[in-house]
This record gives sequence, structure tokens and C-alpha cells, in this order.
Amino acid sequence: MSGLLTALVACLSLAAFAEAKTPSCRREDVPTIDVFGLQVIDVQAKEVRNYTTWMSIPGLTAVAPPGPIDFCNITVTYTHPGLHDTVNNYIWLPLENWNGRFLAQGGAGLAAGADGWLAPNVASGFVSANTDGGHSIFGDIQKVGGDAAWWALPSPGNVDWNLLQDFASRSLDELPKISKQVIAGFYGKPADKSYWNGCSTGGRQGLMAAQRYPDNYDGILAAAPAINWANFVPAGMWPQIVMHKLDYYPSACELEAIRRAAIDSCDALDGLQDGVIAAPALCKYDAEAAVGEPFECGNVTGKVTTEAAAIANAAWAGPVRDGKREWYGVTHESLLGFSGVPGMAGLVMTECDDEVKRINCRGKPFIVGQSYVRDLLFKDAEYDTSHMGEDDFWKALRISRNEMMSIIDTSDPDLSEFRKSGAKMITWHGLGDQLIPSDGTLDYYQRVLALDSNAQDYYRYFEAPGVGHCMGGVGAAPSQPLDVLIKWVEEGIAPETLSAASLPVNGKAESARHRILCPYPLVAAYTGGNPNDAASFTCAESFDATKGHDEL
Ligand SMILES: *[C@@H]1O[C@H](CO)[C@@H](O)[C@H](O)[C@H]1NC(C)=O
Ligand SMILES: *[C@@H]1O[C@H](CO)[C@@H](O)[C@H](O)[C@H]1NC(C)=O
Ligand SMILES: *[C@@H]1O[C@H](CO)[C@@H](O)[C@H](O)[C@H]1NC(C)=O
Repeated sequence: MSGLLTALVACLSLAAFAEAKTPSCRREDVPTIDVFGLQVIDVQAKEVRNYTTWMSIPGLTAVAPPGPIDFCNITVTYTHPGLHDTVNNYIWLPLENWNGRFLAQGGAGLAAGADGWLAPNVASGFVSANTDGGHSIFGDIQKVGGDAAWWALPSPGNVDWNLLQDFASRSLDELPKISKQVIAGFYGKPADKSYWNGCSTGGRQGLMAAQRYPDNYDGILAAAPAINWANFVPAGMWPQIVMHKLDYYPSACELEAIRRAAIDSCDALDGLQDGVIAAPALCKYDAEAAVGEPFECGNVTGKVTTEAAAIANAAWAGPVRDGKREWYGVTHESLLGFSGVPGMAGLVMTECDDEVKRINCRGKPFIVGQSYVRDLLFKDAEYDTSHMGEDDFWKALRISRNEMMSIIDTSDPDLSEFRKSGAKMITWHGLGDQLIPSDGTLDYYQRVLALDSNAQDYYRYFEAPGVGHCMGGVGAAPSQPLDVLIKWVEEGIAPETLSAASLPVNGKAESARHRILCPYPLVAAYTGGNPNDAASFTCAESFDATKGHDEL
């Protein structure tokens, strides 16, 4: 009797223990997935051990050090019956030391998610997942930004609106719903908290989740978001149009000379001469002032021309029609041409048959903008954007606003449902963003505040001076924004600042800049002392407040 009781107790406690035990990674352990509007086609589950392939995640500058990870790789493939699409969700579940949290990972460019970006999250203990949004670029990183024609333009003139909806929004509701069911079945208990992390397109996806599907996440980190898509993507072609009009194609070297002159001119407006323009709104530099200045980059030499100055001014101003600015330009400190670092290039790219002698040069638009205009607006894969004129530019902008606003613009400032859900959100944007004008994000945040003056209670925006698109640049980028978000969600500690650091110069740790970033509308004002020390800055209402306190 007592033996039986002991066995029963042992059995019961084993059952209780089973709730938390390391589950087996088999297809039959994945529960039946039930999400309205979709039909699961296939589920695969495979144990992966000692996985060591790593890719750094845009927007998460500090990732866990590379190390082998063990996880259950569950892939859920589904369709929306009648729409003839196929969407894959990739869900990686740690086999040991799960931290109880779910972290969805965003994509980049025209990719809803990309292979390899889940590994750092899994190494940090999260279950992490992403979606291919109905078109898989997995294994072909070239397609991340490049080209929408192969999936979104099935025939000339015809956009696949269903696939575009999958990419722009629908898949973002399904990923967390599917993942949560898989997690609950796999571990025998649901995730304690759910988060989103993404930069660029990943940032736009995060905001789409907040605007359209407000109940899926407890916390959203949406950096350098590609929101205002219908405006900023075509508007990014503007400097190229001006180049065609002037028939002048400046070298990266000439453009860099202009950018340097602008930084020299505006650097001190924020109270600190550090090669970073922290007060871009105060910078009124006109590139005309740089005309005639000599430039030299190895064997590329010359003097800044009137044409190059006009092109730089156009990149800073954004598209202007009849004296009215139709969208924002990039800030004066943003890269214009190619920096020499792969992936780091601005909107004023050119290419020539002979780069040194500048023979047979042409414009080289940002690949996402090029594909968007060609494949999704003009719906013609043969359309040659390298000769696009001003008439076509305005036509593209009009089509974009008319056809794409509700699909992909992701600029609805009404976050009332998100607020009601109790979730928190952080956005940061590099003020040196060379691809997505940071003023567009500021515009959005101001519209959020105009609707809800208490939006800071659940959504905070931080500007990062001197930081490029998601990363890069000489400025300090947020160090652990996801940890800050988790603290806000789980401990109720709202971020008064974000700690930020730049990469050390030439590997010298003391050369790294440590700064604070302040929640808009506050700015990080210099109060004196070592400018590489975060303690030398304080959050202030404006840079003016610190005038006279410069102790350098
Ligand atoms: C994983 O790596 C560890 C340490 O190198 C090794 O002992 C183990 O056998 C490996 N496991 C597999 C499944 O390869
Ligand atoms: C995960 O599983 C999917 C589907 O079987 C497969 O395509 C993918 O390569 C796997 N990933 C890893 C890292 O094993
Ligand atoms: C220009 O400089 C680059 C790098 O120093 C060199 O590889 C190239 O041969 C030079 N070209 C000419 C035409 O001098």
C-alpha cells in the first residue's frame, strides 16, 4: 500500500517535473496549430547540436559571444487557402536553459527574415523565431535587399498583392501566434513574455505589430524603422534624379569632402566638437560653400563642383516640388556615396566604367528603392531606373502613395490598442542614417505624441547622433536596448536614458565613446569633462541649456 502510494507520488511528481523537463524534439511533439485563416501544410522538427553559424543582428550591436548552441529547429509551413502562397516560420527552441521568453526577430530590406539571425537570440536563452513572409531569401543573402520581381511581380504589370500583404503585415500576426502554440506544446508551458526585435525592415515590422496586431507582444524594439515606406523609399531616389538632370555623377570622394565640410560647420552647434552633429535641426549648411574645395582619396582628386554641391543639397533637402518639400532628406552627417565598407553606402551612389578617370558614369540607386520603383510601382522589371527623370519620379511617388499607403506605409500614429494591451516599445534611430531619413521617424513619433501626450508611458524614442543605418558611423549606438526593454516590461523600470557606445578606434578601448541617449524630446547635452565618458552628459531640454559649460 505504502509502496503503491510512493510509486503514485513519484509518478505524480514525475508528471509535474515533466512540465519543465527538456522536451524531445520530434515532429509528433509539435501540437496541432490552430490560427484563424491559415492552413498548416508541413511541420518539421530536428534537433540541432553544436550549431556555430553566426550572423550579427542589425540593431543589436552587442551580441553574445559566438559559441555552439543546441536547439530544436521547428519549421512550420502554411498557406492561406485560396491565395496560393506558402509561408515558412522558423522557430528555434533551446534544449537547455530556456529563459522563459519568446523573441521574434525581424528582417531587412525586402526580406521578412533572414537565415542565421536567430542564433544569437537562442544563445541568450530565448526561443527565437522568424518568418520568411511568403518569400524565402534563405540561403541567398543577395536577395535580402535586391529584387522584388522574382516573388512580387509574377508577370509584367501584375503585382502579387497577396504576397506583398504577407510580407508587409499578415505574416507578422501569424508568427507570434504560431510560435506561442509551438512553445506551449514543446515545453508544456507558455512563454512568460514575448518580444519583438528588429531594425530597418525589422523596425517597420515591429511598428506594424504595434499598430495592427497590438496584443501579440509584451515588448517591441523597433530600431531605425523603415516606416513611412510609401514616402521614404521612392523619395530616396531623389538625389539620383538630380544627378540625371545635371548629368553629373560625383565620386564618393567628392561627396565625402562635402559631408566633411558640413560636419565641420555644424559640429559645435550641440556644444561639443566631436565630429558628430547631435543637433541636425540647427544645421543649415549649404554645400555651395564647399564649391572649389580640393579633395583627394588616393588617385581620385579634384575640386568640389557646383553640380556635386547641388546634388548633396538635394540629398539633405529631400524631394522638393514647387517649393514644397514632399519628404525628408538625410541629415548632413549621413554618408552620401560608398564608404569603402561593404554595405555602407548612401543614396548618392554612382558607378563608372573607369572610376578613377570618371568615364561613363551613371547613377546607382539604393537597391531596395530601385526594385520598389521598378517592380512594385511601375510593375515592369525592364524599367531602367538608372535613367529615371523627374516626371517619372513624381509619378512613382504618386503611385506609391495611392497604392501602397495602407499596405506597407506603417505610419499609423494611433497606438491606443497597444497602450491598452500594457505592452512597451522602444525605438532608436541613428541620426547619421544614410538610407532612412531619421526625420521621418521623428515625424511619426511627434504624431504619436500629438494623439496621446502620455505616449511616453509606453513608447519612447531615442535619437543616436553619429550612428548610421542600424549600425556604423562614429557615434554611440545603444549597447543593450533589448535588456532595457525587458526591464521596462518585467520590472516596470522605464528607461530614462539608453547607454550607448561607439566602436573603439583602431582597437583602443579608451577611444570608444560612451554616451547616454535621451528619450525624445530630451537631448544628451555635454556638461564638461571627458567627452568619451557617459557621465559628461545629461538629458536636457535643448542644447542651449549647456552653453557656457564647455570645460574642454
Ligand atoms: C558537441 O561538442 C561537444 C564539445 O566539443 C562534444 O563533446 C559533443 O560530442 C558534440 N556533440 C555533437 C552532437 O556533435
Ligand atoms: C531547420 O529546418 C529546416 C526545415 O527542415 C531546414 O531547412 C533548415 O536548414 C534547418 N536549420 C538548421 C540550422 O538546421
Ligand atoms: C588607383 O589607386 C588604386 C589603389 O591605390 C590602385 O589599385 C589603382 O591601380 C590606381 N589606379 C590608377 C589608374 O592609378
